[in-house]
Amino acid sequence: MNVARQIEQYLPRQLMELVKDISGQAAKQGQRVYLVGGIVRDLLLGYPNFDLDLVVEGDAVKLAQQVAEVSQAKLLAHHRFGTAKLKYENFTLDLATARKETYARPGVLPAVTPGTLKNDLIRRDFTINAMAISVAANDYGELVDPYSGISDLEHRLIRILHTESFRDDATRILRGVRYEQRFGFEFETQTAQLLKRDIHLLDTISGDRIRHELELILKEKQPELVIKRLGELGVLTRISSSLKGDGWLAKKFNKARRLKKPTQLSSLYFCLLVYSLGEKEIEQFLARLNISVKLSRAMRDTLSLKTGLPLLDKPSLRPSEIYYLLRQYETLAIQANAIASDSSVVNHNLRLFLTKLRYVRTSLDGEELKKLGISPGPEMGKVLQILHKAKLDGEVRTKGDEKRLALSLWMKLEW
Ligand code: CTP
Repeated sequence: MNVARQIEQYLPRQLMELVKDISGQAAKQGQRVYLVGGIVRDLLLGYPNFDLDLVVEGDAVKLAQQVAEVSQAKLLAHHRFGTAKLKYENFTLDLATARKETYARPGVLPAVTPGTLKNDLIRRDFTINAMAISVAANDYGELVDPYSGISDLEHRLIRILHTESFRDDATRILRGVRYEQRFGFEFETQTAQLLKRDIHLLDTISGDRIRHELELILKEKQPELVIKRLGELGVLTRISSSLKGDGWLAKKFNKARRLKKPTQLSSLYFCLLVYSLGEKEIEQFLARLNISVKLSRAMRDTLSLKTGLPLLDKPSLRPSEIYYLLRQYETLAIQANAIASDSSVVNHNLRLFLTKLRYVRTSLDGEELKKLGISPGPEMGKVLQILHKAKLDGEVRTKGDEKRLALSLWMKLEW
């Protein structure tokens, strides 16, 4: 099967010219270059994807070095892994030496030696990710599909390449569910059985690798579908016993996406994901997944604010009271609770803090108070704090209001 027409239709001409140049250089040394993995799958599905992975039957690093010498590309080489990145003005290309992998035991990283394209494809996770396309001049666009990936794409199936696949690398369980939900595919029968058989091997995977896969899941368009399915398959509880992927989470993830500025959407998802965990469970989760200090703080804050929400469930709270109840929490934790809480009063108070109160500043600072004759020290701190409260509660509006209040407070304090 030749897919040159699909390449032309979906990939920018400029990008493919670069790939052809690289392939031409490789050919001079008797090496071959192929497009491989996700890009091939997405090209056949007609999904947009400009992340090009190239496999080189030969030496990818050496080839990339040669290409970088005669082009504008910047080179980033990893000799140890036999991989290289070529960064052009508008595109990035990833090159890897075709490799053969052998796993000593489940969960450990494989031993790697140079190999053929076929060796490189058999080490991959699923048939739909184990296809390649030649970019050589003599058979440009020819699909290499030794494991019937195209048939599985047509039948919308996720299938592993051999029965030990999940044992070699149990993160494939998480990857498989991600693809299944992203594309609306199904696990092929035997793959589904082996997945169940090997779920326990997720325990052998390092926290960093599990976290990385969760991060990838949370970057999906609808991560709640993946999380729900992981719940049904018993994968979630393997990661942490109380994690749930129920309808509640789907509703809240949806709401998180609709937030105006979801700058840290996947961190927000993480906070919502752990919303049902208890004190002990969250600590186990953070330790198991080796979560960063910053995100750990936001997740712990999310749960501690959750227990404090009844204090915010009062319509009569003054803005300054809301401010002092919330100021010690991470913004992300407040956002997560605003999404999670079903009380309109709590919601209103949290949003008021997020959109207004946290930005309120007095017009006067210490320097200006000094000019008014107020001497530095604990009393000045007290004056500034009362000014801030008054500003939050709308009791002072102008700089003049603040000056008057500051001086009257100072007189009282001096007495
Ligand atoms: N791969 C694998 N096993 C893994 C990770 C990756 O076999 N545990 C292979 C797959 O062939 C995959 C390729 O390496 O297609 C590139 O990995 P990655 O970039 O994670 O996947 P893509 O398919 O390119 O991207 P995405 O999952 O986002 O679609």
